[in-house]
This record gives sequence, C-alpha cells and structure tokens, in this order.
Amino acid sequence: MIKKILKVSAIVAFATVVLNASSYNAQAEKDRLALRDYMMKKFSNPLKDRAKFFPYSTDKELHDGSLIAVKNIEDFRLGTYAFAKNAKEQYDDIKEMPPYLDNIDAGEEIYNSNIAIKKCFPNPAIVQNYPMFDEAKRKVITLTGAINNCLKAAGQKPWSWTKGKIADLEAYFASMTQEAGKRIDIKINSKAAQAAYERGKKEYYSQRGYLKLSCANCHVQGAGKRVRAEYLSPLLGATTHFPVYRLKWQSLGTLERRIKGCEKNQGETPHKPSGQWTAEMLYFMAYMSNGLPIDGPDIRK
Ligand code: HEC
Repeated sequence: MIKKILKVSAIVAFATVVLNASSYNAQAEKDRLALRDYMMKKFSNPLKDRAKFFPYSTDKELHDGSLIAVKNIEDFRLGTYAFAKNAKEQYDDIKEMPPYLDNIDAGEEIYNSNIAIKKCFPNPAIVQNYPMFDEAKRKVITLTGAINNCLKAAGQKPWSWTKGKIADLEAYFASMTQEAGKRIDIKINSKAAQAAYERGKKEYYSQRGYLKLSCANCHVQGAGKRVRAEYLSPLLGATTHFPVYRLKWQSLGTLERRIKGCEKNQGETPHKPSGQWTAEMLYFMAYMSNGLPIDGPDIRK
C-alpha cells in the first residue's frame, strides 16, 4: 500500500514538474498551432478559398497553375517553392547541382581544424535547437552567436555575423543536422524565456519603417501574394533551411543576414545582427516552425 502511494505521488510530482515546465510555452503552442492551421487552410485549396485568402489575386495568378495546393505541412520548409509552381521548377533545376556544396566542405574543414569549435560543438548536428534561451545569461543565443561566443572564450577573434566563415560552418552543421533527420525543437522553459518569445512576437507583428508594414503583413496575411514578380513566403517554415545561398547575393548568408535585408525592404535601418532584438525575433520565428524538418543549407532567389 505505502509502496503504491509512493508510486502514485511520484507520478503526481513528475506530472507537476512536466506541467510547470511546459506551461511557459502554453501561449507559444497556441500561436504555433493557430499559424499551422491558418497556413494549411490558406494553401490547401487556393482556388476554392479565393474570396477569403486571395481576394486581390488575378485570375491569371490563380488559374495558370503558378499557385498550387500544399498537401503536406512539411512542404512549408521550402518557402515560396511550396506553392509557386514555376519557381519550384527552377529551384529543382538548381538543386541538382547546388552552389553551396563547396561551402559545406569549407565548413567541415573549419570544424576539423579549429579545436575550440570542435570542443564547443562535439556534435555538429545541433541546428534544431537554435536559437535557444540561455538560462544562465538570461538571453537568447542564435547559432551564429553561439559560434562567436565560443571563439571569444577561446581567445579568438569573432567572425562576421552574416557571411563568410560563419555561414560555411553553419552550412556544415545544417547538413549534418539534416542528415540526422532532426526537426526544429525550440524550448521555452522559464518565465524569462517566455518574455523573450513574447518580445520577439510583438516585434514581428509591429508596423514599422516609413511603409508602416509589419513582418506579418507580408509573411502571414500576405503569404502567397505577389510583390512584383515574387511570391511572399509564409512565416511557417521561415527558419528551417538556413544558411541560404541567395542568387541575389551570389553567396551564402546566415538568418541574421536575411532579416537585415527584409528590415531594409520595410524602409527601416536594420537592427544589429548581433543584438537581442534580432535574436528574440528569430527565437519567435523558429518556435513557430517547431516540428518541421531541418532542411539547410538551401537556395533562394
Ligand atoms: C514588403 C513585404 C515584406 C516585409 C514587410 C517583410 N518581408 Fe521578408 N521577404 C519579403 C520578400 C519579397 C522576400 C523574398 C521572397 C520570400 O521568400 O518571401 C522575403 C523573404 C524573407 C525571408 C526568407 C524566407 C525564406 O524562405 O528563406 C525571411 C526569413 C524574411 N523575409 C523575414 C522577414 C522579417 C523577420 C520581417 C520583419 C522584420 C520581414 N521579412 C518583413 C518581403 C517582406
């Protein structure tokens, strides 16, 4: 009997711990599920739901097959290529001989030759956990930040936050993570982490710049619509595939680099890629893609 009571109370205690740990992400979970639901509804039959989701799209855009239905939620890791048929065909062509293969090799060489890096990241398949909330430092650390922190701690000079060596190393990490079949797994385990998530979310939904646009205007409500020749990608899946080789850049870049470009598009002076503003924004964005497979490095226009 006593044994049984002990067992039951152990289970209750365990359940309480689990509940407490998970309750910090309760709102984030609601947000994530709502976003998944919205995107699946929006893209599972763009023609049928035209009045609701695409009131301003032309017949041509909807009928000539350039906008196709998304059947599998995991396709959102492809950004616009999940639903933009013509662009997807070009993407598939480039993927046959992707321009980032040399970057992965360069990244592997950096990993094997830099003892400090190897010591900080004994397992290179770790992309799924970043950005993470560092409970000791009480701030969000992106993968780029973690690499630079590691270099600094070893007395080495930090690298650029946006391109070059850091992007190469992240390309190697991403390809190892993809090979290991990992899915995005962002944790919110404390009140401070929850507050960082909420700040990131607030910034994502805030209108700013002289155009008074929020990120969400383009990547939530606007996802699937066209801006000049480009379709807008959904927030869901926005962080699964970095670093990215952009044809526009003709080089590889980190998530921090990509965000900077979009802030400029918004008509705003970009925040520092190494600052908490950027890290918290990415923390929120990555949480939204929890459960989607890591798919980097990848290519984008
Ligand atoms: C005026 C519309 C607009 C606004 C506002 C905007 N973006 Fe973008 N964004 C684009 C366009 C166009 C692209 C390139 C096509 C695509 O992938 O969506 C893009 C691409 C991206 C990508 C790359 C997606 C991928 O699949 O690789 C990310 C990440 C991103 N934006 C984040 C943001 C963030 C964060 C904000 C707010 C700070 C923001 N964007 C604001 C138009 C916008």
